[in-house]
Amino acid sequence: MPYTTLASLKDLKTRRLMCVISGTYRILLAYTNGTVFAVDDMCTHEDASLSKGSLHGNCVKCPLHGSRFDLLTGTALDEPAEDNLHCYEVKIDGDTIQVKLPLSR
Ligand code: FES
Repeated sequence: MPYTTLASLKDLKTRRLMCVISGTYRILLAYTNGTVFAVDDMCTHEDASLSKGSLHGNCVKCPLHGSRFDLLTGTALDEPAEDNLHCYEVKIDGDTIQVKLPLSR
């Protein structure tokens, strides 16, 4: 499964949260506690971009109804969201953030 280059590490360090679209994927990149995370950008409750939310430690909080998701596991921590986010493998190559995206989607 190939890694896809999605963003510059320097850029993400400045913005902390960003949504990147690659093919049919809409990925949230998050930089917190010195680590880059990649998860689905769309909240599992309704249509809200988590890139418009806020970071709280290793969690991202949805801007619409406030559910928090653990960026390490994708787990939905509060209602109303019940379903977890999908997490993607991240590789850093110099200033480049690469994410492993499954092909069949
Ligand atoms: S849309 Fe995210 S918690 Fe409702």
